[in-house]
Amino acid sequence: MVFRRTARMLRRLICGRLGPVWLWKALLLFIVIAFAGQLMGIIFNRSSVQPAPQSIFSSPDAQGPPLGSCQPHTHIMFLKTHKTASSTVLNMLYRFGDEHNLCFALPLAYQLGYPLPFNAHRVKGYRGPRAIEFHIMGNHMRFNKPEVEKVMPSDTFYFSIIRDPAALAESSFAYYKAVAPAFRKAKGLGDFADDPKKYYDPHLRNNHYAKNLLWFDFGLDHNANFSLALARAGEDLIRQTFKLILVSEYFDQSMILLRHALCWPLDAVVSFSLNARQQRPSGNGGISGSWVGKAAAGVGLKGGNKQSKVPPNLSLTENQREKLRQWNALDWYLYRAFNKTFWEDVDRFGHTQMEREVALLRMRREDLARVCLRDGGKPIEAQRIRDKNIRPFQSGLVKILGYELQPGLDNITRTSCMRMIRPEIQYKDLLDFKQFPEPSVAQVPPGQQNQVLMVAVGGTFLRQDSSRKRGTLEDGMKDWDGSHLFRRNQTMIRVHEKRKFR
Ligand SMILES: *[C@@H]1O[C@H](CO)[C@@H](O)[C@H](O)[C@H]1NC(C)=O
Ligand SMILES: *[C@@H]1O[C@H](CO)[C@@H](O)[C@H](O)[C@H]1NC(C)=O
Ligand SMILES: *[C@@H]1O[C@H](CO)[C@@H](O)[C@H](O)[C@H]1NC(C)=O
Ligand SMILES: *[C@@H]1O[C@H](CO)[C@@H](O)[C@H](O)[C@H]1NC(C)=O
Ligand SMILES: *[C@@H]1O[C@H](CO)[C@@H](O)[C@H](O)[C@H]1NC(C)=O
Repeated sequence: MVFRRTARMLRRLICGRLGPVWLWKALLLFIVIAFAGQLMGIIFNRSSVQPAPQSIFSSPDAQGPPLGSCQPHTHIMFLKTHKTASSTVLNMLYRFGDEHNLCFALPLAYQLGYPLPFNAHRVKGYRGPRAIEFHIMGNHMRFNKPEVEKVMPSDTFYFSIIRDPAALAESSFAYYKAVAPAFRKAKGLGDFADDPKKYYDPHLRNNHYAKNLLWFDFGLDHNANFSLALARAGEDLIRQTFKLILVSEYFDQSMILLRHALCWPLDAVVSFSLNARQQRPSGNGGISGSWVGKAAAGVGLKGGNKQSKVPPNLSLTENQREKLRQWNALDWYLYRAFNKTFWEDVDRFGHTQMEREVALLRMRREDLARVCLRDGGKPIEAQRIRDKNIRPFQSGLVKILGYELQPGLDNITRTSCMRMIRPEIQYKDLLDFKQFPEPSVAQVPPGQQNQVLMVAVGGTFLRQDSSRKRGTLEDGMKDWDGSHLFRRNQTMIRVHEKRKFR
C-alpha cells in the first residue's frame, strides 16, 4: 500500500511536470534514498546480520566496466527501423524506463502512425508541445523531426539501427510478402531480386517495404532516383539529428557503444534474443537467426492469399544479393556510410577495450540466461509456455518461440528476469497500464489486451477481433489502410480531467 503510493508519487514527480521543481524533488528523493541505503548498510554491517541472499542483478558484474564521470541519459529517442533487431533494442528501453519509472511516449495503439509521417498527436497523453515531460520514445514511426521535437525535450539523445539491405530484404520479404504488392507478385525473393522493376509499382501502397525501407523509415523519399548528391544530403540530414547509428551485423559491439553513449550499466544492454523464429527443416537461405524473426505476423492472413500459406523461397545467390543492394541503392549508401562511422567510433573507443567489454557482455548474457531461463534458455513453442502473459505473438506462417522463467526465483530476480523476456506487445500494454492506471482500463489486466487484437508489431495491421466489436470502436478512427484503430476514449477523457486538477 505504502509502496504503491510511493510509486505513484514517484511517477507523478517524474512523469508529470517539467522544470526545476521536478529536479529539486528528484534530487531530494535521491539523497534520501542514498542516505537510507547508507544507514541500512551501516546497521547491517555493525550488527553482522546475515545479508539477504544477493540477486544476480545486484552483483558488481551488473554494472560492467566503469563509464567515467557521466550521467545516465534519460531523454531518449530511438527510431525503430524495420527488420533490424530493433525489437531487442526496444526491450532494453522498456526495461530501463520501467525500472526507473520514466515516462514513455507511447502510441495510442502499437505504432506511432506508421507508415504516415509521425504526428505528435499519435502519442498517448500528448497535450501540446512539451506540456508533459516524456523520457523515452521508441515505437515504430516514420521519422518526422519537427513533430518528434514537439514531444521530446531538446536535450534528447537520438539513435537508431541499420542493417545490410540484402539481409533486410530477406527479412522484409518473409514478413511482408502478402502485404507489399511488389513482393506478393514475386514467387521467391530470388525472382524479385533478378528483376525488381517487373514487380514494383511506386504508386502502390505498402511497396515501401520493397524498396529503400531504411530511407523511408528515416522520413525520406524511398522512390527517389539514386544520385550521390541526394544520398549525401540524406546522410547529412540523419547525422544532424542522430548521434549514434548502430549496426545489426555488429550487435554486441553496438550495445557497448550504446551503453557508453547513454552512460548505462552493462545489464541494461544485455538481452536474450526475443522473437526467434523456429528453424525450418528446409535449408532456406540462412535467415533462421534470432532477432531476424517475428516473421509475417498476422500479415499472411490478409485477403486469404493461398500462396502465403507456403513459406516463401528466400534463397539468394551472391549475385542476387548484390542486385538487391543496387535496387536499394539509397539504403546501401546509408549502410556503408554509417558502417564506416560506426567503426571509426570503435577506433576512438579502443579495440582492446571493445573486445574486453563484448566478452563481458556475452558472459553476462550466459550467466543471466542460466539464472533466469528454464532449461538453460532453450526457446520453446509459445503454446508450451505456461504463463500466457509471456507468450509471444504468433504469426500464421512461422512459429515464434519464447522462454519460460526458471521456477523458484526470489522476487527481485524474478522481476528483472521477467522484464528481459516479456514480449513487445505485452510490455507496451504493461507500460501503458502503469502510465494510465485508469479504472476503466483496470478491468482488462495488462498483457491481456493484446489478445483481442490481431497485430503485426512490425507491420501495419491493427484489427479488432470480431468477438469484441461492441463499445470500444470509435467511428472515424481508422488507420491509413482502413483498419480500425483502438482508442479507449474513456481513458483519454479521464486523462485530461486528471491533469486539469493539478
Ligand atoms: C528458390 O529460389 C532459388 C533462386 O531463385 C531457386 O534456384 C530455387 O530453385 C528455388 N527453390 C525452390 C524450392 O523453389
Ligand atoms: C527516375 O528516373 C526515371 C528515368 O530514368 C524517370 O522516369 C522517373 O520519373 C524518375 N523518378 C523520380 C522519382 O524522379
Ligand atoms: C563495415 O565495416 C567493416 C570494418 O571496417 C568492414 O570490414 C566491412 O566490410 C564494412 N561493411 C560494408 C558493407 O561496408
Ligand atoms: C514475493 O512475492 C510474493 C507474491 O508476489 C509474496 O507472497 C512473497 O512474500 C514475496 N517474497 C518476498 C521475499 O518478498
Ligand atoms: C466515447 O466515444 C463515443 C463516440 O465518439 C461517444 O458516443 C461516447 O459517449 C464516448 N464515451 C465517453 C465515456 O465519453
